Amino acid sequence: MHLSLRQIQVFDAVAQYESYTRAAEMLHMTQPAVSMQIKQIEADTGVALFERQGRRMQLTSAGRELTHYSRQVLHAYKDMQEALESLQQVNSGQLIVSVATTATYFATKLLAEFSAQHKGIDLTLDVTNREKLLFQLENFEPDFVIMGEPPAGFNLQSERLMENPLVVIAAPSHRLASSAWYELGDVMSEQFVVREMGSGTRTAIERHLRQYGYRCQTSLEMRSNETIKHAVEAGLGLGIVSLHAIQPELDSKRLVVLNVESFPIRRHWHIVSRKGKRLSPVAELFHDFVMKEASRFVRV
Ligand code: PGA
Repeated sequence: MHLSLRQIQVFDAVAQYESYTRAAEMLHMTQPAVSMQIKQIEADTGVALFERQGRRMQLTSAGRELTHYSRQVLHAYKDMQEALESLQQVNSGQLIVSVATTATYFATKLLAEFSAQHKGIDLTLDVTNREKLLFQLENFEPDFVIMGEPPAGFNLQSERLMENPLVVIAAPSHRLASSAWYELGDVMSEQFVVREMGSGTRTAIERHLRQYGYRCQTSLEMRSNETIKHAVEAGLGLGIVSLHAIQPELDSKRLVVLNVESFPIRRHWHIVSRKGKRLSPVAELFHDFVMKEASRFVRV
């Protein structure tokens, strides 16, 4: 026995309106076509579904029992259509994401996987420092930003992702490069290669050291983690960077992490959006993906 979705719709409409004519109007069919479908179902199943009461088509008790299932089938079908519609919407839209320079190491992998799963999405990615990210958010530019904790009072919505530990790094040839434990004072007398003003990493380091009454003596100021790593490797000083930015250099032993009092500085990555910015279905999808998957892309 086979019942088509159309037959279930016809049965359900006649049951609801108790009339072939009204059911036909509802389904944009002719009245004889509706009556034929019902006869066909009754013939195929051997079950009488309706009995005529004057002009009304009244359900038999068997028919009444079947309405329970026809409603379920039609509801499930409607849900499926809605789900399909929203999937079609989110598979073709625009997404604008900005990430902090330091977050690129994991954020690019995260975005690559998201793009691979949703090929129709047109993704724009910008990489810049914290100061510029806050400016972009203020101007409603990106859907989402991945950065360190944003400051309060900026009309932002932010959710914590995973830890972002800041560590002291040295070239393996540096005189402090050993597994020894150093007091903060031992290290602070050294020269440091630091990030530019406006970098979240730099602000966090300065705030942290200020609590202990220190500030970095800087030998060089650099705009990216890549150049900091090269400079530290070349022996131009120590550095303080996110552990997430130096994994390949640690693996290949081009850099070492020093054991220093009050380090690592414990920070966290956040996904941030501007309060009041309307989130598209694509942006919602991206948000859920990041909340669920981000920690998979870092090694701590
Ligand atoms: P940045 O990022 O140091 O690359 O600006 C880190 C942050 O947003 O805190």
